Amino acid sequence: MNAEPDKKVFIKTYGCQMNVYDSERMQDVLAAKGYVGTDTPDEADLVILNTCHIREKAAEKVYSELGRLRRVKNSRGKAGDDMLIAVAGCVAQAEGEEIVRRAPMVDLVFGPQTYQRLPELLDRRISDGTAVVETEFPVEDKFDRLDAPTRTLARGVSAFLTVQEGCDKFCTFCVVPYTRGAEFSRPVERIAAEAERLVAAGVREITLLGQNVNAYHGSGPDGGAWSLGRLLGFLSGIEGLERLRYTTSHPRDMNDELIEQHASNPTVMPYLHLPVQSGSDRILRAMNRKHTADHYVKVIERLRRARPDIAVSGDFIVGFPGETDADFEATMNLVRTVTYAQAYSFKYSKRPGTPAADHEDQIAEEVQSERLARLQTLLNEQQKAFNEACVGRRFSLLLERPGRYEGQLVGRSPYLQAVHIRSAKAQIGDMVEVRVEKAGANSLSADII
Ligand code: 5AD
Ligand code: SF4
Repeated sequence: MNAEPDKKVFIKTYGCQMNVYDSERMQDVLAAKGYVGTDTPDEADLVILNTCHIREKAAEKVYSELGRLRRVKNSRGKAGDDMLIAVAGCVAQAEGEEIVRRAPMVDLVFGPQTYQRLPELLDRRISDGTAVVETEFPVEDKFDRLDAPTRTLARGVSAFLTVQEGCDKFCTFCVVPYTRGAEFSRPVERIAAEAERLVAAGVREITLLGQNVNAYHGSGPDGGAWSLGRLLGFLSGIEGLERLRYTTSHPRDMNDELIEQHASNPTVMPYLHLPVQSGSDRILRAMNRKHTADHYVKVIERLRRARPDIAVSGDFIVGFPGETDADFEATMNLVRTVTYAQAYSFKYSKRPGTPAADHEDQIAEEVQSERLARLQTLLNEQQKAFNEACVGRRFSLLLERPGRYEGQLVGRSPYLQAVHIRSAKAQIGDMVEVRVEKAGANSLSADII
């Protein structure tokens, strides 16, 4: 191994959980090249921005960060000390060469399908002396190389594991099918091996990731295509793995086998993130969501029948082109019908290359802002009511980190709420039974039973 000891890498991650996972795997790949992680970008030999292209604001953040890094790089350069700057992730994939034109001090640009080749891209940058831009979708899949058991660095007690990547749904607002490419599912055995490595490294909870995770159809040990439900059942057999979650799902792909897992498998947490985007059938059609509001509500009803204590979270877009007051009211009504424990909501953002960006009936910013404020008020009320209804309930908690005060620990409830407890004996990684005593704005506090 051509280890170059004492090199430091700083990775800044934007956007979704898949980027968090990708950043961790980049760290694994770079560890084999002698890089250690640092929290201080200013002293790093290599800075990687792992970027997000989903909305304009997210994408523009990268350029302001690059402006700051340019000054650091310049002053380091004057002291004869080199610092490499890399842009990875979805902005890299979408903009490629354009990044180097706008920010010439960038040394490397590479898309989400190429980070397993990071060591050779770094070598190429050093030997060529010019910026390297790599945004091809390679024929080999990135996981083939990553599956060669690299060192799995410690991940804490809760970890992400990508099982599916890319999307074939082509919602008309979304860049993901272009930046992450076509749907791909990793084979079951590879996923199981990675899950076992994570559990051996101390992980107790795994969140399976995919842009369209419930469309998972990876090949199983029997040669057939396995559904996500079957995969969850299989993984819950791993000794020491206490909890399984999965995200993000599409309403069209919530099949019986998956819903049945919520009913019968205690390792699968009673929480589901199921984006709907809009409650208006007209807008859902224009978004190419391939389902109606009624279909969505019925899926939630099926889930609640299978697992009465399941909590639901969602994503919403307001001010999609052509959205009328009546369309927006339909979204408000859907929220009242479903009642969410948590939610994410956004103003529609025009993305280059997506069909909706060319619509003529774009909605004025003030209208978007007013609708977003109304929707968020309702969603926040629901979240508060959900948290308050947890008071008095018994939960199992996975303890994740120390709290701010002596003897305090913070764990996650089955519903992803942060829960504070006090205990002299309990340790990070323990599962403890608690009774919820108080609900705050963003967290709960509880006593061990
Ligand atoms: N504008 C606003 N929100 C968007 N999302 C995806 N694309 C856009 C866009 N162009 C939101 C959707 C999706 C979440 C990850 O981001 O709600 O579910
Ligand atoms: Fe984007 Fe729609 Fe695919 Fe989700 S399902 S990643 S919103 S195209």
